[in-house]
Amino acid sequence: MKKLAIFGSGTGSNAENICRYFSNSNCVKIAFICTNNKDAFIVSRAKKLEIPIVYTTKNSLNNFTKLRKKLNDYGVDYIILAGFLLKLPVKMVNSYPQKIINLHPSLLPKYGGRGMYGANVHHAVIKNKETESGITIHFVNELYDEGKVIFQKKLVVSVNETVKSLEKKIRLLELEYFPKIIEKILLR
Ligand code: GRF
Repeated sequence: MKKLAIFGSGTGSNAENICRYFSNSNCVKIAFICTNNKDAFIVSRAKKLEIPIVYTTKNSLNNFTKLRKKLNDYGVDYIILAGFLLKLPVKMVNSYPQKIINLHPSLLPKYGGRGMYGANVHHAVIKNKETESGITIHFVNELYDEGKVIFQKKLVVSVNETVKSLEKKIRLLELEYFPKIIEKILLR
């Protein structure tokens, strides 16, 4: 049995989707959902799904002592970042080599790095008149959005695309592919 911890700071639609995807699995279990934002909708989703919630802060994350203990106590094998907005400390990244997986709403290396999250990404894509965008699923290293790419899926950015419409199209790709790619990595 592989155990996952999902980290998120926002609405948690991907976190919920992953939990539902593996809810009847004999091979994969969600140990807990970790957030740095007590008010985020991901918290309500975790409660509804009856998944334990672990709260962290920027300082506690950087210190990594408490979180390391939680991860060990729950026997977590893989960490999934689904809209987690804090940068992970190097000691955490080094403790889980090729075991931390992030989802990014653009075709990295384009539109990655500091400040490139959520609607900011789609704004930039449209402003630069890109003809395609997509999603990237990658391993996390100590640099923002620069770890080894596992999977990318492209979509066409239409001429009259808006931030909202692009966001919607990207979200559909994320919901379709993220759990499947996680499963592939976990069970390889
Ligand atoms: C997703 O668009 C993901 O690509 C990015 O953060 C967003 C999280 O959305 N890393 P949600 O919290 O899963 O709804």
